[in-house]
Amino acid sequence: MSRFIAARPASFAAGLLLTCLMACGGGMTPKPFLMPTPLTDINPDPNIVEVQLVAGPSTIQYLPGSRAQVWAYRDGAVAGSVGTVPGPMLLAKQGDRVIVHLRNELPEPTTIHWHGLRLPASQDGSAAVQTAIQPGGVFTYNFTVLDAGTFWFHPHLSGDVQIEKGLYAPIVVTGSEAIDVAADRYLVLDDVKLRADGQMEDQTNPLDIMMGRQGNVVVVNGQKGATLFVATGTRERWRLLNAANGRYFNLSLPGHSFLVIGWDGGLLPRPYSTYKLLIAPGERYEVLVTFDHPQLELLSLQTLYYDRGHDIPDPGPQDLFKVAYDSTGPAPTPPMALPSSLRTLSRLDATGTPVRIFALEEHENPTGTLFSINGEEFPKVSPLAAKQGDLEVWEIQGNPEMDHPFHLHGNFFQVLSVDGVPPVNFGLKDTVNVPKGSKLRFAVRHETLGMWMYHCHILEHAERGMMGMLMIE
Ligand code: C2O
Ligand code: CU
Repeated sequence: MSRFIAARPASFAAGLLLTCLMACGGGMTPKPFLMPTPLTDINPDPNIVEVQLVAGPSTIQYLPGSRAQVWAYRDGAVAGSVGTVPGPMLLAKQGDRVIVHLRNELPEPTTIHWHGLRLPASQDGSAAVQTAIQPGGVFTYNFTVLDAGTFWFHPHLSGDVQIEKGLYAPIVVTGSEAIDVAADRYLVLDDVKLRADGQMEDQTNPLDIMMGRQGNVVVVNGQKGATLFVATGTRERWRLLNAANGRYFNLSLPGHSFLVIGWDGGLLPRPYSTYKLLIAPGERYEVLVTFDHPQLELLSLQTLYYDRGHDIPDPGPQDLFKVAYDSTGPAPTPPMALPSSLRTLSRLDATGTPVRIFALEEHENPTGTLFSINGEEFPKVSPLAAKQGDLEVWEIQGNPEMDHPFHLHGNFFQVLSVDGVPPVNFGLKDTVNVPKGSKLRFAVRHETLGMWMYHCHILEHAERGMMGMLMIE
């Protein structure tokens, strides 16, 4: 617990207690809303972020009365630190050099992939570019962060097991944008599959493999049922990341809209507003929420049913955390208007560009469902080749049975269309949901030399074949 910071300063405590009488009923203390703490920067140079990260076993209390055995990251620069889920975050500013000394205290080999960061292939952490870091081993990652936005890091070896067990953390790279908000919050969404004794279920059943493992407890920043206190009239920035193996989050905050200002590759040129926000595994969204409905006293951020295929029944809305208005403080100054354009971004002109086809396939097999792309099952794949600087259009052909979130390493792409229809907005993506039976096209300009992975971000699918390699030369 000590490795988290509470989201609201202690001076709010008085108002918090009052609001609590309504929000938590019967005067029970609300569970405070926690956020990941940044890793300690041990380098005095203001343009270098140098951290010590340790991956190892830890315990987390998900259910009252018992601590689940997990694998987690901790801050090696803090004496006595314990591993948390999510792990301590990597916080840097655009243009910084980042140096991460990783020590592996796990009983098995691991690596780290910096999901969404553009970096040299040698630092990308996939099995294609790095020998695994053995138990007791160390490795230093060293790269420059080129883009502002919300990213995340996680192992790229047995991802279905290691990420599920708790090895993941957000990365926030701040830019120069002037967006006036009362709070900048990091919300890491996940679910855990717990047995009655509070330990994590380590057996996978055929449904886990087919859909990606879905937990029975949904958590935000590793906790369930917290209360977020917000001040009436303020606007907050929420950076959302779906770190689940297989769960889709379809977010709704009754009575409130989300103004989407950014996604995987940073800010969008123009924001758009929505009441429901679908976040597939691996994706990130940045939204602004304005708290102008104080009459709605008992509110929860919920995830709603989304039909992602295979006739999975609707469990009804599930609460992620409570949102309670706190009107006891001084009236806030209204937030300043947003700039009319958040970012300039030119659209890739893909007319007449060669199209590569990627068909996402599932097959039933006596050992469970197997997955492939264009008939090839990872690791038995022949790498594709492209030239540095080439512009290509990729057409991802969705499987008729279910949705798959497609992720490309090393570079961003721009979605052109889904079944011929342009997307709601254009901006840079590295992970995109390919709805069942649809054809999704994106444009990408290959930038960085080396071997890059592309795969489904449902981790059980990636680890059972739905992954390929691209060599940029
Ligand atoms: Cu977050 Cu290759 O993935
Ligand atoms: Cu998939």
